[in-house]
Order: sequence, then C-alpha cells, then structure tokens
Amino acid sequence: MAKVHLRKITRENFHACLNLQVTEVQRRLVATATQSLAEAYIDPNLFPLAIYDAAACGYEQPEVPLIGFTMYEIVAGVGFIMRLMVDQKYQRQGYGRATMIEVIRRLKLHPEVEIIATSYQKENEIAARLYQSLGFWQWNISFAISHPTEVYVKLED
Ligand SMILES: CC(C)(COP(=O)(O)OP(=O)(O)OC[C@H]1O[C@@H](n2cnc3c(N)ncnc32)[C@H](O)[C@@H]1OP(=O)(O)O)[C@@H](O)C(=O)NCCC(=O)NCCS
Repeated sequence: MAKVHLRKITRENFHACLNLQVTEVQRRLVATATQSLAEAYIDPNLFPLAIYDAAACGYEQPEVPLIGFTMYEIVAGVGFIMRLMVDQKYQRQGYGRATMIEVIRRLKLHPEVEIIATSYQKENEIAARLYQSLGFWQWNISFAISHPTEVYVKLED
C-alpha cells in the first residue's frame, strides 16, 4: 500500500511544487499550487504541504521526487482539507488516498479540530468516491446545503 511523507514548502521544493501538473480535464477541478501558496502567504490558518513517497522520510534533501500538493485549514473547530493534487505522472498509485489518510492523522492531533471536512466540485466523481470510501458523508451545514457547485462532506466518527 502506498504511503506518503508530507513536508513544508521550502526554498528547496518550491519550484517543483509550482511545476506540478494535473491532466487537462482536472485543471478546472482544483486551484493551482501557485494560487494556494499565495492564499497561504496571507492566511495563517492555512497549512500547505508537499507530498512525497514515504521513502523521503528521514532525508533532509529527499532523493525521491515531489509528487503532489495538499493544503488544509484549521478554523472554527474545523480541519478542512482544501486542496489535494497528485501530479499526473504519479496518479493511480494510491498516493491520493495515502495523502488523505496522513492529513486526517495530522488533523486529529490538533486539539482545536472537532470536525474534519472537505469539499469537491459536483462533477468530480473520482474525489466523491475517494472521500466516501474514507468515511466522508454529506455535511449539513447551511453554507454547504445551498452551495451551487461544491459538495461539502465531513468525516463521520
Ligand atoms: C483526486 C486525485 C488527488 C487522486 O489522486 P491519485 O493519487 O490518483 O489517487 P489514488 O491512486 O489514491 O486513487 C484513489 C481512488 O481514485 C480512483 N481513481 C484515481 N484516478 C482515477 C481515474 N482517472 N479514473 C477513475 N478512478 C480513478 C482510484 O481507482 C482509487 O480508487 P480505489 O482506491 O478504490 O482503487 C488526483 O486524481 C488529482 O490530483 N486530481 C486533480 C485534483 C482533484 O480533483 N483534487 C480533489 C478535489 S480538490
């Protein structure tokens, strides 16, 4: 089973992070890493992270490539997984699922996190299936119910 190692974005991995590519069809489903990093620069509640294979763990300079990007937000008792992107070269190898599992583990370590949630665009069937299989179900919070394009889900305990 794939396992990942998550690490802060630094001078060393910043360019690789900006160069991450998803497929043409996926481009409208997720914001770019550039946009996410710009958001994180002005918002201290956002935690952007680089995704590596678990083989990178323990190495100051990872010898394996950066494979994706994720970002979560901790606000109002909610650990919200805002972004998940695996480079097209490394998709369908279990890294997306492994990243979700690792991010959930991290969020559970924060005492202020009471709910773990995420969202995806209605048309994103891969994300819908992935999140459902991990135990995410419809989140009945007012802004979610009335949202025209985005589906909000929360992790059931
Ligand atoms: C969603 C995404 C992160 C999945 O990454 P990944 O590394 O390919 O995911 P995994 O290999 O862990 O696969 C997760 C599940 O999705 C399925 N899946 C992944 N890509 C698929 C595809 N192109 N078609 C059909 N199913 C697919 C896998 O079969 C797997 O299901 P399984 O575990 O039941 O076999 C990746 O497709 C991506 O970056 N998409 C663009 C951005 C996006 O949509 N992000 C999520 C919403 S913000």
